Amino acid sequence: MRVLGIAGSPRRGGNTDLLLAEVMRGAASKGAEVKTVILSDMTISPCQHCDACLEVGKCRIEDDMQKVYAEFEQADRIILASPLHFMSVTAQAKAMIDRCQALWARKYVLKIPPLGDRRERKGFFVSVGGRKVANLFEPALVTVKSLFRIMDVEYAGGLLFPGIDEKGAIKKYPDALKQAFLAGQKLVEE
Ligand SMILES: Cc1cc2nc3c(=O)[nH]c(=O)nc-3n(C[C@H](O)[C@H](O)[C@H](O)COP(=O)(O)O)c2cc1C
Repeated sequence: MRVLGIAGSPRRGGNTDLLLAEVMRGAASKGAEVKTVILSDMTISPCQHCDACLEVGKCRIEDDMQKVYAEFEQADRIILASPLHFMSVTAQAKAMIDRCQALWARKYVLKIPPLGDRRERKGFFVSVGGRKVANLFEPALVTVKSLFRIMDVEYAGGLLFPGIDEKGAIKKYPDALKQAFLAGQKLVEE
């Protein structure tokens, strides 16, 4: 069982990083092999809509996204962690998501498995937002669920915490971190 964590916040050691670390710790405690990629340390250009992927099922931009595609293919569980930035995922996460147009092309145009094989994969979303209003995470969730759908990854749920703003604020909520640890365990046991 290989678990891929995607750290989408540019604020290193911030709230989603802390939550993601707990999810990964939970997964590892159940014997999973875990790997976290940090998007803000990587160079991932936005999609240029060149349509090359429609022919070959691969993106022709040679940057760090090539490593992320390889990680996706190896993963059984994918955890995307991103805080809300202007009601959506961060620009770092959105660039990665848009580059998954190549996976969309595999699935819908070339009719091949988007991640290379048909094993059962599950996806999980971890997010926080500074505001505390109803339906805060709905716009981001639409994007994230759409990503998992085009990858043939079943959306297994999320941990979404509103009202968390300053760096490290999530530490004031030990229950949130505990929930993250338990979610990591559950994700690999399912
Ligand atoms: C550019 C930017 C845009 C933001 N937009 C939102 C937003 O639309 N809604 C919200 O609830 N919080 C918003 N926030 C607040 C962050 O979601 C919040 O500070 C969060 O705790 C950051 O998580 P992190 O420590 O993992 O980076 C925004 C923060 C930044 C820097």
